[in-house]
Amino acid sequence: MNGEPLEPEPLQDIGKENVDKKETLKEKGVVYFDVGLTQEERYAMERVQIEREPKEFDYYGPVNDELVKKLTDYFNRIGDNAEEIINNLSALVARMADGVQKDFNAEYCWVNVRTFLPTNEYDIPRWHKDGGYFKSNEEFYKLVFPIKGSPTRFAKVLDAKRYEKLEREDAINNSIRDENSEEFKKENIRIRKELMEVVEEIEPPSNEQGALYTVNNRQTSTIHSEPKMHGGSRIFMQVLPGPKEKIEEWENRSKK
Ligand SMILES: [Fe+2]
Repeated sequence: MNGEPLEPEPLQDIGKENVDKKETLKEKGVVYFDVGLTQEERYAMERVQIEREPKEFDYYGPVNDELVKKLTDYFNRIGDNAEEIINNLSALVARMADGVQKDFNAEYCWVNVRTFLPTNEYDIPRWHKDGGYFKSNEEFYKLVFPIKGSPTRFAKVLDAKRYEKLEREDAINNSIRDENSEEFKKENIRIRKELMEVVEEIEPPSNEQGALYTVNNRQTSTIHSEPKMHGGSRIFMQVLPGPKEKIEEWENRSKK
């Protein structure tokens, strides 16, 4: 497509609906919207087989043919799936990325896809804010969508002081992750359990809704967690749109 818009139509029209969505996002820190799945996309999401958990997919750049090609390579690695399914999933991720890139008038995107085999890791939620993408404390907005499995959970803070204390303790704990994994795990569970008392979960998105939420700002970023997996596997996608130099800044930081 080389700079040409992706087919089918972008995720959202740039009309009133989009303006309302951005206002809700600014005010509440999170907004859900119907992604308008096509029959082919829904079919691929229902049928995809997850047999492996390859290294996560990362792409930093404009939405173009190269992204689609790299997504196809990635989806080829997660299991033994028909070409049609792989192509439909790749097109779905690219379509969502294209929509959000246009919505935010961005030049570039970070597109990330993660595949999970069944795990109990998130039975106790990992409530957290996303931060540290950029040196600045500016608010950015990220799109998340569950291609397979449960959607991301969202929450609001009930006790900001206790939340911040636990956040600091979590940062200290993360710094010992590699040197003392037993101690890390124990402390991690303690923090996660206490966080459950400090936040209140809101109604999660449905399986056909994308969610946009605030990231990168230490104060205003939206609290969220991976969902309980209920013994199933999961494919999760996220897109962070932004100016070229910002996405490159994140790329450089993430590769350190
Ligand atoms: Fe997160």
